[in-house]
Amino acid sequence: MYSPLVTALVIVAFGPAAAPSLMPPAPEINAPGRYRRIGERASDLSSLQKKARPRRLGHLIKFSTDVNRAVDFYTRVLGMRLTDRAGDIIAFVRGCAGGDHHIMAFAKSTHTGLHHVSFEVGDVDEIEIGAQTLMRAGYKDGWGLGRHLGGSNYFHYIRDPWDSLAEYFWDIDIIPEDDADWKPMDIGIEQISAVWATTPPPPEFPMNFEPV
Ligand SMILES: [Fe+2]
Repeated sequence: MYSPLVTALVIVAFGPAAAPSLMPPAPEINAPGRYRRIGERASDLSSLQKKARPRRLGHLIKFSTDVNRAVDFYTRVLGMRLTDRAGDIIAFVRGCAGGDHHIMAFAKSTHTGLHHVSFEVGDVDEIEIGAQTLMRAGYKDGWGLGRHLGGSNYFHYIRDPWDSLAEYFWDIDIIPEDDADWKPMDIGIEQISAVWATTPPPPEFPMNFEPV
């Protein structure tokens, strides 16, 4: 980014048309994470048509009989990095080039299986519009709305027809490739699960429904 002085000199020397690419970007209004809107509505009539639009698969959580062994294989052998964990109950790993707080995690169980897949949506509105639409359609509430501590993302889970979970998420922590300052946490499962949630997790939330 050029300094205001350089930008001003370019404008004086060559005219404003030469300067747009040097100008600082206009401040974003209602961008993710922004709460101040001046002279703009956050919600208008078009908001009533808003839908959940999953942008990408963000991560999946796999049941594992041995979380420590899974972490060892996926980090030491495959090259991923440990981000945070709750002892040998759950461990989150990310790619070696940084990015999302986790793209996989391993949750302790008696046998392997899929706990959940998670899809990124555009904001917290989309999480709830999506989850509530699915529940009105008869799908079972999995858990939410809440905000995880591991990853910081807002979440809402819905049971899929095969008794795994599908999660809508938004606003996950991003870790840089140069991640020397990142120190993995090792805390309790209750702590790492949520900063807050509208309800406690239902008893079946951590259960593995896949056949042995
Ligand atoms: Fe998740």
